Amino acid sequence: MNIGIIGCGNISETYFECQNLFNNFNVVACADINIEAAKNSGEKYNVKTFSVDDILANDDIDLIINLTIPTAHKEIIIKSLNAGKHCFSEKPLAMNFNEGLEISDLASSKNLYVGCAPDTFLGAAGQKARSLIENNKIGNVVLGTFNIMSHGMEHWHPNPDFFFKPGAGPVFDLGVYYITQLVNLIGPIKSITSLSGTATSERVITSEPRKGEKIKVETPTTLMGTLEFHNNAKIQFFCSWDVWKHKHTTIELYGLEGSMIVPDPNFFSGDILMSNKEEDWQVINNDKMLLGIPNKTDNNGVKIANYRGIGLSDMIDAISNQRQARCSLDLAVHVLEAMEGIIKSSNQRAIYNMNTKLKQPDFLGDSEIIKLKK
Ligand SMILES: NC(=O)c1ccc[n+]([C@@H]2O[C@H](COP(=O)([O-])OP(=O)(O)OC[C@H]3O[C@@H](n4cnc5c(N)ncnc54)[C@H](O)[C@@H]3O)[C@@H](O)[C@H]2O)c1
Repeated sequence: MNIGIIGCGNISETYFECQNLFNNFNVVACADINIEAAKNSGEKYNVKTFSVDDILANDDIDLIINLTIPTAHKEIIIKSLNAGKHCFSEKPLAMNFNEGLEISDLASSKNLYVGCAPDTFLGAAGQKARSLIENNKIGNVVLGTFNIMSHGMEHWHPNPDFFFKPGAGPVFDLGVYYITQLVNLIGPIKSITSLSGTATSERVITSEPRKGEKIKVETPTTLMGTLEFHNNAKIQFFCSWDVWKHKHTTIELYGLEGSMIVPDPNFFSGDILMSNKEEDWQVINNDKMLLGIPNKTDNNGVKIANYRGIGLSDMIDAISNQRQARCSLDLAVHVLEAMEGIIKSSNQRAIYNMNTKLKQPDFLGDSEIIKLKK
């Protein structure tokens, strides 16, 4: 498939480069509301540069990757669908559940696919944890926790404003990885309770080039509560950008027969810790698995596995075979509803009962990965 990228910012490099990892798409064009950003990417990756309207009108492009900021996601997805193109969007799918439903209705009426990040749950760690749970290694998961704590994004991102607006904050920006991973591991969410807080109403940017500028905080920077799943598991969460230092782990799952610690779902690999009843932790390494083999070097010089693009590649294969994609629109809408549910529950001080329910995305096995990998 021929792909056009809309949004040539920070994350776009990963998507321009992922065509080198998978074999069923080529990035042929890019656009951005900021013409300079599009031109720079066009030159760097040797693709045509268009205005947003022209890339959408181009008949050679079958699918749009939407890498704009969260407030623009819905607009670009709707425009892509109206232009007769499939769309794969960065997360979150949209700003709220209603926007997600609107996208869903339009995609069905046009018979086009919309997929959404994150696809990290398809990585070695997420799929290994899934197979261990399905093979009953810790028994039925009944309880768990997930924790996302730091002091925010203003110290690294060049334009950190969007992180502190509705549609971002620690749940929409990072919780999305954890919630998606949990749906992959234990199925759909039934209800939510939460409380929120905002430690300071302003943030000072400490990254270049806008060092010293202040940003207004327009969405809660701490959300804590409990997700109840349809399998009756209760998972407690603590998502905050108001914490300097802590010692919590990422995701812990407690089953009837044992416990499991799942690594940060923002990444494709990482050791899983598992224990049976009172036995010691067993380390389960997955960096020899297909989507766990280190293939990139991060900003600290550490080799990591980064296979972003697998969700897109799987969706393109799903389009050819008229099957459900793993990073499906249903999954994105369910996770979006849960994230909005977290905000709503805290605003209303009431339990939020989920309207959407779906089946877990299919397990991604080696034979399917081999089919898609270059
Ligand atoms: N930066 C990361 O490490 C990272 C990682 C994972 C996911 N994401 C997600 O990717 C998305 C983009 O993040 P980013 O860090 O690249 O942001 P960014 O601000 O660096 O880039 C966004 C780009 O989109 C363009 N844009 C904004 N509105 C537009 C519109 N209406 N039409 C066309 N172009 C428009 C901007 O000009 C900018 O070039 C976000 O949703 C973010 O949550 C980012």
